[in-house]
This record gives sequence, C-alpha cells and structure tokens, in this order.
Amino acid sequence: MKFFLDTANVEQIKRAVKAGVVDGVTTNPTLIAKEGRSQHALIKEIAALVKGPVSVEGNGTTCDELVKEAEVYSKWAPNIVVKIPMTEEGMKAVRVLEKKGIRTNVTLVFSPSQALIAAKAGASFVSPFIGRLDDNSMDGMGLVRDMMQIYKNYGFNTQVIVASIRHPLHVVEAARAGAHIATIPADVLAKMWNHPLTDAGIKKFREDFAKVEGKYL
Ligand code: E4P
Repeated sequence: MKFFLDTANVEQIKRAVKAGVVDGVTTNPTLIAKEGRSQHALIKEIAALVKGPVSVEGNGTTCDELVKEAEVYSKWAPNIVVKIPMTEEGMKAVRVLEKKGIRTNVTLVFSPSQALIAAKAGASFVSPFIGRLDDNSMDGMGLVRDMMQIYKNYGFNTQVIVASIRHPLHVVEAARAGAHIATIPADVLAKMWNHPLTDAGIKKFREDFAKVEGKYL
C-alpha cells in the first residue's frame, strides 16, 4: 500500500520524506489556502521534494476549463496529477486529459456508481472521501470495499486513493480492503508511529541497560 501525504505544508512533507514514508502528496484548494502562498510556487516546491505523484486541483467547471487548467498544471513538474471533480463535465475532461497523457485523480467521490463512471472514463486515480461520509452517518469504508470489488470484477487499472482520512484505523481498514493508496494528514501519520507499550518498553530497556553499563548513551 502506498502512503501519500494529504497536505500542502512543506515542513510536514520534508519531515515525512526524511522518515521514508511518503510515496506522493495530495493537495486541494483548502489545504493550499491554509499555507497562504500561491499554488504555482508551492506546488513546484512540493513536486521537487517528492518523487511520486503530486495532486493539484483548480477551479474550472466545464470540460474546456478543466482541460486548460490541467494543461498548465501538468507543465509545472513531471509528477503532477490533476484533480478533476466527479461531474459529467469532469468525466469528459478526464477522457481528454488521459488521452493526452495527463494523469487525473477524480475527486469528491462519494458513491460506487460515481467510482464506476470515473474508472470507465479512464482516470488514473479515484479518491473516495471516507471521513466526510462517516461524518454524515454513512459508511465510508463500505464505499472503499465496493470500489475494490467493482474494479477487480472488470480489471480496471484505476488506483483507489482513500481520502478524507481522520484516524489511523481508517488507514488500517483501507489496507484490509486492499486499497492501493491512503492519503494521510500529517497528524494522523504521527499517530500511526506511536504506541504507549512501545514507549514504556523503550523506557524500561534503557533503564535496565543503564543499570548494567552504568550510563545511558
Ligand atoms: C484529498 O485528496 C482530499 O482533498 C482530502 O483528503 C479531503 O479531506 P477532508 O475531508 O478532511 O477535507
């Protein structure tokens, strides 16, 4: 399973890259706005830090607008993937862009029927927003399981990026479902490293080491 970082914060990305756990990055206009910098400069910096795909989103709505934006973004770096909203116009844009060799990530996917249409359009990636479904008393992980089953039934190459992740169990459940990728906020990733028994174990072993050796390193 690949881990993408769901952030536009350069410091968070640098830290996770150093830890060797980042296979890509996803951004959206809300994450970019949090950083208070222009998308162009920020995305170029992020795309240089990470070898894998970096998803960028514009604000076009028609097929023409979405294609024009994507053509601009795709020139920023070779690893750019363009997010396209799950709409009829969006799916037209996905067909055009994928034919041109520009990879797309269909975003704001909330149902299996949307996921099926996005895969039939030829999207490289599709992002089910599981946290937002859970927030609304719907079964986010059920959507991921349905998608994996449907894509397997028909041999689609589209990769599932489980998005809108709220906690480590979301990542574990996504892995159980066989999702290709989880895009993880930095605070959730930090929680994934930790376990109180690990901390307690390290403390005890260090104390006992020091008892014999007479010192800590
Ligand atoms: C990533 O591609 C999505 O934009 C992101 O995971 C959405 O997360 P949110 O529901 O916490 O805003």
